[in-house]
Amino acid sequence: MLKPIGIFDSGVGGTSIWKEINKQLPYESTVYLADSKNAPYGIKSNEEILRLSIKNTEFLLQKDCKLIVVACNTATTNAIDYLRAYYSIPFIGIEPAIKPAALQTKTKKIGVLATKGTLSSSLFHNTSKLFAEGITVIEQEGAGLVELIEAGQIDSRKIEDLLKKYIDPMLEKNIDSLVLGCTHYPYLVPILKKMLPSKIKIIDSGEAVARQTKAVLMKNRSLELENNIPTHTFYSNSNLNVLKNLMDNYDVSIVYKDF
Ligand code: SIN
Repeated sequence: MLKPIGIFDSGVGGTSIWKEINKQLPYESTVYLADSKNAPYGIKSNEEILRLSIKNTEFLLQKDCKLIVVACNTATTNAIDYLRAYYSIPFIGIEPAIKPAALQTKTKKIGVLATKGTLSSSLFHNTSKLFAEGITVIEQEGAGLVELIEAGQIDSRKIEDLLKKYIDPMLEKNIDSLVLGCTHYPYLVPILKKMLPSKIKIIDSGEAVARQTKAVLMKNRSLELENNIPTHTFYSNSNLNVLKNLMDNYDVSIVYKDF
């Protein structure tokens, strides 16, 4: 058996990425780390996000992971350059899907919903500059959304009200694509679909990240063989109920760990 893939997030949101990875790489074992005790990362300083990202990485290295997916946009945009420079294993990051949105927009206006930490990072600005030339990118901070998702209030009135407040101004500016720039937000797609006109495309990064993970493992010849029976261990330093609900249909073990 080869080593597992490590995945970390500020909490439960990275499970949206885990599900894509598991779909595309069903023979891979995984170790998932949910740092829910410290969620949300999006309002923390760059130094604090870096410190937490290093702590999470060290935990996953102790579990002998062969590659780490930073399944959190905020941690990616603030820490991945450092992690790649300091550690020898490969890191896959989650960047808001500006490029696919820019390629398909007809109105030349795209909306990006993300955390303050992501929107204020230089990696986000460089990506926008590189891929969205001639396109208006309307940035909106999703303040409060991660906290509600971490509390398991995905279908709540509070979430609906917040989303309406954030989305309406983007619709008035005639966006035709909405980029979900936080791995927690794919869990809001059912509500967003009810709120948005059907012509608005909702774009997240999950599929592309899983594809990239597969490509890197193939290149490094560390892709798991088809006869491997994978194991999946999820560690969380907070209440496990929300994580258990989100992973209800999967054969995974979920363990409390104070880290
Ligand atoms: C957060 O912890 O604030 C959000 C995580 C993300 O940006 O994906």
